[in-house]
Amino acid sequence: MNICVIGAGYVGLITSLAFAKIGNNVICVEKNVKKVDSLNNSIPTIYEENLDELLLECLEKKTISFTNKLEYSVRNSDVVFIAVGTPSLENGEVDMSQVHESINEISKYINKYTIIVNKSTVPVGSQKFVKNLLIKNGVSSDNFDVVSNPEFLREGKALYDFFYGDKIVIGHESQRARNVMNLLYKPFNIPIIFTNPETAELIKYTSNAFLSTKISFINEIANLCNKIGADIDTVALALGLDKRISPEFLRPGIGYGGSCFPKDTLGLISIGQKYDCPFEIVKSAVSVNNKQRVIPVDLLLSEYDDIKNKTITLLGLTFKSGTDDIREAPSLYIIEELLKKGAKINAYDPMVSDEIREMFPNIKYFDNMNESILESECVVICTDWEEFKDLDLDFVKDNMKEAFIIDGRNMLSLDEAKKRNIKYYSIGKGYTN
Ligand SMILES: NC(=O)c1ccc[n+]([C@@H]2O[C@H](COP(=O)([O-])OP(=O)(O)OC[C@H]3O[C@@H](n4cnc5c(N)ncnc54)[C@H](O)[C@@H]3O)[C@@H](O)[C@H]2O)c1
Repeated sequence: MNICVIGAGYVGLITSLAFAKIGNNVICVEKNVKKVDSLNNSIPTIYEENLDELLLECLEKKTISFTNKLEYSVRNSDVVFIAVGTPSLENGEVDMSQVHESINEISKYINKYTIIVNKSTVPVGSQKFVKNLLIKNGVSSDNFDVVSNPEFLREGKALYDFFYGDKIVIGHESQRARNVMNLLYKPFNIPIIFTNPETAELIKYTSNAFLSTKISFINEIANLCNKIGADIDTVALALGLDKRISPEFLRPGIGYGGSCFPKDTLGLISIGQKYDCPFEIVKSAVSVNNKQRVIPVDLLLSEYDDIKNKTITLLGLTFKSGTDDIREAPSLYIIEELLKKGAKINAYDPMVSDEIREMFPNIKYFDNMNESILESECVVICTDWEEFKDLDLDFVKDNMKEAFIIDGRNMLSLDEAKKRNIKYYSIGKGYTN
């Protein structure tokens, strides 16, 4: 099929490449010209496992191209995917302006039957909203169907998830749209759930709110473990062996981040408000997470009367390992709080981006883990990058001003820290006195 994907972010780029790989002709339209140039020159704009090879392969086979011009692509496509950002507004509602803008643009060029697919995470009712907007813009209702097809990929495993996901959800109204979507997704051999648009839209929010709740729940149990001398890993192991629960998303830490869980929990709460469904559980998950992500700051403040001019090293800035995405990462909240209190910050992350350098120009960025901790008073591990497990505790002991580690992702061992007389705090696996 001929496919147009609007937006070359994490979701748009992966969607484009996956459909191109299985033999469709894909044009990905991105308004950021720098991204377009970079991608056409086979330079990935995001970090994802195996992305560079696939981009090169699809460009060489000419099954994909990138442009900032919409007209040709829309006029020549059977299916147009909307994969633009839907961030949170200040009040927690979903900012639909990028979707709105895309639909206004598309409206100018639809001249034959085209399926418009909401791939972005959008509130319940958005399929109707898009349909009404197209009609308002003068597009004949015979010329389009609007489908809701939320995306469930995980950053860091995005390509794998697109090709081997658990399910595909298609919310549709017409049989014609259902047939086309079925044909398009059939080669992936993943179970497809066909349903109405409202159900499809709600599934995405339900899924992210449930996973966020699971994380906040295990984090509260971890906090209790530290107080009573229980071990969170053993609790989580036992819990996960119960088939009704599953072992996934039971890893404690300093909270969830990223472009989905924080905004989609707020999104669901704001959808609930409209329909008088207060979602108390999700509200609690959000409030637990807000406290969890600044636990390192609370610990530092209880350790030192004043952290002004103390040097704190952050290991990891991205919201999780395997990605360069820093959106809503706990590290951002920790940096902000520490800077407010006058601390000096060193940072090391294997994927540090220009974005964070621009956001916080006054912190010191290092290319090497060991160098970043020299002469610092405390190390805070914010991301679960594998290499942090190799932090040399003898080096820590010998080279830090004070050997103090707050292990926000439980990467190290309390016993090893104890042996070396290093002050150490984990999330639910104990701490040194
Ligand atoms: N990132 C994830 O892991 C993930 C997973 C599932 C679903 N989602 C959802 O998918 C959507 C996209 O997320 P993302 O992380 O890819 O966002 P992103 O911000 O990385 O990418 C969005 C891209 O769209 C471009 N864009 C915006 N308006 C445009 C327009 N009018 N024309 C052309 N390009 C335009 C932006 O420049 C940007 O490159 C969101 O709704 C998100 O909630 C994200």
